Amino acid sequence: MRAVDLIQKKRDGQELTSSEIEWLVEGYVSGTVPDYQMSAFAMAVYFKGMTTREISDLTMKMVKTGQEFDLSAIDGVKVDKHSTGGVGDKVTLILAPLVASFGVPVAKMSGRGLGHTGGTIDKLESIKGYQVERSQEDFIHQVQDIGVSVIGQSDQLVKADKLLYALRDVTATVDTIPLIASSVMSKKIAAGADAILLDVTVGEGAFMKTVDEARELAQTMVELGKAVGRKTVAVITDMSQPLGRAIGNRLEILEALEILQGQGRQDITHFICELAQIMLDLENVNKTVEEVRQHLENGKALAKFEEMVQAQGGDLEDLYRPVNVAHVVEIPAQETGVISALPAMEFGLYAMRLGAGRAVKSDALDYETGIVFEKKVGDSVQKGEIVAKVYTNGKISPQLVTDFQKYVKINDRVQSLREIIEIIS
Ligand code: URA
Repeated sequence: MRAVDLIQKKRDGQELTSSEIEWLVEGYVSGTVPDYQMSAFAMAVYFKGMTTREISDLTMKMVKTGQEFDLSAIDGVKVDKHSTGGVGDKVTLILAPLVASFGVPVAKMSGRGLGHTGGTIDKLESIKGYQVERSQEDFIHQVQDIGVSVIGQSDQLVKADKLLYALRDVTATVDTIPLIASSVMSKKIAAGADAILLDVTVGEGAFMKTVDEARELAQTMVELGKAVGRKTVAVITDMSQPLGRAIGNRLEILEALEILQGQGRQDITHFICELAQIMLDLENVNKTVEEVRQHLENGKALAKFEEMVQAQGGDLEDLYRPVNVAHVVEIPAQETGVISALPAMEFGLYAMRLGAGRAVKSDALDYETGIVFEKKVGDSVQKGEIVAKVYTNGKISPQLVTDFQKYVKINDRVQSLREIIEIIS
């Protein structure tokens, strides 16, 4: 077989056979299919799509390019969760310990930031000492001991995704259903959990821009999960504005702590409690949203988070340390009214330019920088009132403020947003 023939076949809209997909994936991982051919293939998929059978073959071949975790040593139904990417998305940091605080084991592998979206692993690495790479043995022991672990995708897990994810990031081929579905589900299947909650984001800051696209992605992934015997539920969630108040690694850890102490914004707190309720339901633990929220207010979820940080080598003193930046710049509102839009993508890119995200895969992160919103969509604001604060280690200039202000839309009224748009199971 030759890669060029498979690229051409896909370019011309034809269906690849199972053995052709296997050859391509194996060739890419072993290095005989170079990056430039895999990028051309990804672009062909972007334009021509894949059939359900091709997506399923691609996913299962990707699973085979690494170690498959066997979590059977842990009692009970192990639950996992994955988001298709967002801006200010610190949900896992709260959801994992919250669910675990009800005695449901959470064994979670997370990713790094991609383009304008952040990654849970980068956020956790902003805590001094926190180890994201763990052996299968350590991962299992920790879930057995304390009921929760959040680790990074190691080299041994779905090697094909590790390579392809980074390649897609720099070749404009991330936002395509076959490649997102196979990327997410290969990791979830290899990671070994019995039940999976998929958070499929939609809107300006997400890879899926319309609810129809998000629904198609959600259904594709739910089918892939069910085909291999995993209980899989997807929720379609709004990502038209950043989630919560903070964007930026360290700043999001601090916001997560606020929420874990029951002191977060109502909207994000309620949203996370709803997700926790669905995850608990996957293990037939039936709780109301109010009962879930009590674990934020009584400190049980926070205690679980601290336990996890410590178990993974993180320094608890450093966890509560405020951010350390050269400048905090206040952004005043330019008029009086109601905040009607805060485009998530634009603010994700703005935070990336501050150093909170990577433009290319080799970029180093500045964990301390980012944005904290004082106002969100639907909040009233007076001219001159502070809408947000920018945390930066770079040069400050009037443009830093005007660039920010041009994305803040203020109106006299606003359509209300629902966080969970649809549930697909
Ligand atoms: N999240 C993933 O894990 N993979 C993608 O392709 C997009 C979002």
